[in-house]
Amino acid sequence: MKLDDTDLLASGGRRDVYRHPDDDRLLVKVFRPRHLETVRRERLRWYRPFRRLRQWTATIRELTEVLKLDAGGVSHPRQIQRFVGLVETDRGLGELVVRKGHGDAFLAPTLHDLVQEGRVDDTVRAAFEDFATWLLESPLVVSDFNPKNFVYARDGDEAPYFAIVDGLGETTYLPVKSLFPALNRRKKREKLDALRRRLDGAGTGRAPDGARTPAGAGIISDFPAAVAPAH
Ligand SMILES: Nc1ncnc2c1ncn2[C@@H]1O[C@H](COP(=O)(O)OP(=O)(O)OP(=O)(O)O)[C@@H](O)[C@H]1O
Ligand SMILES: [Mg+2]
Repeated sequence: MKLDDTDLLASGGRRDVYRHPDDDRLLVKVFRPRHLETVRRERLRWYRPFRRLRQWTATIRELTEVLKLDAGGVSHPRQIQRFVGLVETDRGLGELVVRKGHGDAFLAPTLHDLVQEGRVDDTVRAAFEDFATWLLESPLVVSDFNPKNFVYARDGDEAPYFAIVDGLGETTYLPVKSLFPALNRRKKREKLDALRRRLDGAGTGRAPDGARTPAGAGIISDFPAAVAPAH
């Protein structure tokens, strides 16, 4: 698959996020060259075999959480980005995921964007409370509560909701949060409280205008998991 600079929609610290060239429902995440340089410089140690996955460690962590839910008979919640597969691109092996949009906005704004743009209103706060309740009831482990990892999505005319697009999974050698659910819940509550304080400090925003890119196709809510063939 060939990726074009003009299709770059967002960048995180580790990855660039592109529009899929042929499918508006999907995004392609590829590692930024600078991040690859950093992980390549890391020293490998025999007692940390997972480090050999280098840049893919976080993807494996995220998938582990998603697959644990599936193994437990829980259907894929809309509050987590859907992983679709891996795809060979001219910028390295990429991750295919289902795009979260918000109405006509091609990319849903992040919690960080909402605060930054003064768009926090009662609807946002209510959606956040629903999300917090759901996350605390779920056994999911979330390691990175960066406000840019939570998006404020909206599928068609349905009510908006928060979803996690990055940061799932255990980061410690021993999976302590999975081993001790009470600890996991306490940590999540603390981090959610911190996010809530951010929203509360943000004040009430004016009318939203979240479109950062031209409007795309409608959002699908129930995308089947499949490994897409390399283009
Ligand atoms: N499935 C998605 N739907 C909509 N927007 C998304 C999705 N996944 C990522 N994004 C957007 O792209 C940005 C970067 O994605 P992501 O957090 O996966 O990158 P990253 O480089 O791994 O992040 P970090 O800086 O936390 O390491 C997000 O902050 C969000 O704005
Ligand atoms: Mg991120």
